[in-house]
Amino acid sequence: MKKEQFYVTTPIYYVNDVPHIGHAYTTIAADTIARYKAAAGHEVYFLTGTDEHGRKIEQTAQTGGETPIELADRVVVKFQDLWKLLGISNTDFIRTTEPRHHEAVSEIWKLVEKNGDIYLDEYEGWYDVRNEAFITETQLEEIMKLPEESRPRLEKIKEQSYFFRLSRYQEPLLRHYSEHPEFIKPDYRRNEVVSFVEGGLRDLSVSRTNFSWGIPVPDSEGHVVYVWFDALTNYLTSLGFPGKTGDFGKFWPADIHLVGKDILRFHAVYWPAFLMSAGLSLPKTVFAHGWWTVEGEKMSKSLGNVVDPCQVVEEFGSEVFRYFLLREIPFGQDGDYSKRSLVSRVNGELVNGLGNLVSRSLGMIERYLGGIVPEPGEPSESEKKIESSYGETRLQVSSDLEELAFNRALSRIWEFIGLVNRYVDSEAPWKLAKQEGEEKRLGTVLWTLAESIRVISILAYPFLPETAQAIREKIGLSPDISAENADWGHTEPGTSVVKGENLFARIKEEKD
Ligand code: MSP
Repeated sequence: MKKEQFYVTTPIYYVNDVPHIGHAYTTIAADTIARYKAAAGHEVYFLTGTDEHGRKIEQTAQTGGETPIELADRVVVKFQDLWKLLGISNTDFIRTTEPRHHEAVSEIWKLVEKNGDIYLDEYEGWYDVRNEAFITETQLEEIMKLPEESRPRLEKIKEQSYFFRLSRYQEPLLRHYSEHPEFIKPDYRRNEVVSFVEGGLRDLSVSRTNFSWGIPVPDSEGHVVYVWFDALTNYLTSLGFPGKTGDFGKFWPADIHLVGKDILRFHAVYWPAFLMSAGLSLPKTVFAHGWWTVEGEKMSKSLGNVVDPCQVVEEFGSEVFRYFLLREIPFGQDGDYSKRSLVSRVNGELVNGLGNLVSRSLGMIERYLGGIVPEPGEPSESEKKIESSYGETRLQVSSDLEELAFNRALSRIWEFIGLVNRYVDSEAPWKLAKQEGEEKRLGTVLWTLAESIRVISILAYPFLPETAQAIREKIGLSPDISAENADWGHTEPGTSVVKGENLFARIKEEKD
């Protein structure tokens, strides 16, 4: 059977700073959806990478006494190492300083230019270096209302610049949003973008002359391509664009661009306009997620509360971090990262919920049956309830994942785990094991537990790949979930299981 393709991307991260929780969040979410799709039989292309050009990188390098490429080469490794640590299954990792990217940016520039959408003029105004964004008069008024310490650093610029005729795309964009409501998600974010575009679009400055750390504008000395024009093109570069066959033909347009809410405008207004102008098709969905605060405060370097993902992984493990980030808040909304809440989820849901179910069930198979999965007898009402509840959970989890409702999917999986844990309590296999004539019933209960654990490993896999594989090893299955039959009933009697180590370690709760 021909596999359906699925292409998911994360933003490419600036190398002016080391990775933090925000970067880890999007990448873990993308990994989860990529694993889910691959396990469901899709051919998946999952892209992440780094954004290495622009004024901000140039300035950071200067301040640190490095060249921009030295800075990029040093910091990119931190991202790559973190993704390994977090079990990220990306297909490619793109750096915008690679020659293949240079080629793709020049090509899309030329296509846009050929379409009459580039012209030379003078730009006079303000530039926000941190966000690499041109500031309009209205934005400037808003910024000036902020307390001085929270205003972004602005540079006044007056230079020759190439402009992109964004104003031409107001109507086509509005039409696209209304014909493809799935283009921007969640809905409330789409409404924001629609009102922004309805408010009118001004042509966009897409080249700079007062610095040189970027891709040169084709055939135009002294101009470098605006860093967002450069960065957005990465989604094409990785697929081998400008070559139109191979991966490009196979995976473009992207199924989902995952982005934070602060960079939605670049992805949902500028990017589709560039693509329309270049005659390329548009991504199917741009999904904007919310922002994390930390212990109730905005995360910032000056407050010194930036969460370092490597540290969290070192302290609690990568699976715990993945679970917490996707379980704690609905994807799309803002939320708070707090140690107390992480500890309570780990102890309550991972240790007492999943960990306990696996260890008590396999412990009993070891103790009462020498570690061999028994033959089940006729299912009673309680086994039928577990089977039917699994059927429902499986369908709901799939539809939740299609909507990127990670937290809802996890809460449903954990409801199922709770149901099975209650089944253990009410069937009390430890009593059956002592009663004569109950061997058959004991067999049915313990087989049901082994089977429940098997299907839980399938449900949990996209979120907790290592845990799923550890569970599978305990129950004698191969780590490869994609070949596994997810229908109820596939645990083979006679399989050997081992209880082994606990899946999760309880975290000591700090007293106030
Ligand atoms: N380089 C651009 C993206 C170019 S994509 C073509 C960029 N890079 S970034 O490194 O600054 O940030 C990337 C992502 O981190 C954004 O999606 C942003 O929303 C996210 N986050 C930054 N702080 C965050 C939180 N506190 N919480 C959640 N996500 C956050 O922008």
